[in-house]
Amino acid sequence: MIHKKETFEYIVHDSIESVSEEHKELIAKAVENREQAYAPYSGFYVGSSVLLANGEIVTGSNQENAAYPSGLCAERVALFSAGATYPNEIIKALVVTCRNTKKLTDQPFSSCGACRQVMLEYELKQDEDIIVYYLGEQGPIIQVNAVKDLMPLHFPPDAL
Ligand code: THU
Repeated sequence: MIHKKETFEYIVHDSIESVSEEHKELIAKAVENREQAYAPYSGFYVGSSVLLANGEIVTGSNQENAAYPSGLCAERVALFSAGATYPNEIIKALVVTCRNTKKLTDQPFSSCGACRQVMLEYELKQDEDIIVYYLGEQGPIIQVNAVKDLMPLHFPPDAL
């Protein structure tokens, strides 16, 4: 029997000041896009932005539906849009930010499992790490340097 342990490191930025210059605009776009969310049921507004190697920024926000599971998270809206529009472009970085209309969000949150699986598959497909940032309405910003860190023991696409 072998006991295995997985750990990962991530960066906590006290403010946007210490974030790399090239990603500041990307974060601003996600924050801007958060307000485009269609979230009448949860009141939880999520914005996302994806930076591609060609310099394009693709954005998304969560889109809910009265038949609840039919909605989609912001990061999947952004990633699927990027994948559909620029299928061969490397994804360099992804930002996810939330605002809860019911209480102040002053801490970052992390993506749901389904979104992590989707993020991971794009990372595996391009064989290049994707930097991920999480932030709330205010407060610290978390930077994770690879999706695989967020998704140990993932479902491997090559199993199919
Ligand atoms: N949501 C996201 O957009 N991203 C996540 O990673 C977690 C949850 C959305 C889905 C739903 O519209 C609302 O937040 C509440 O779950």
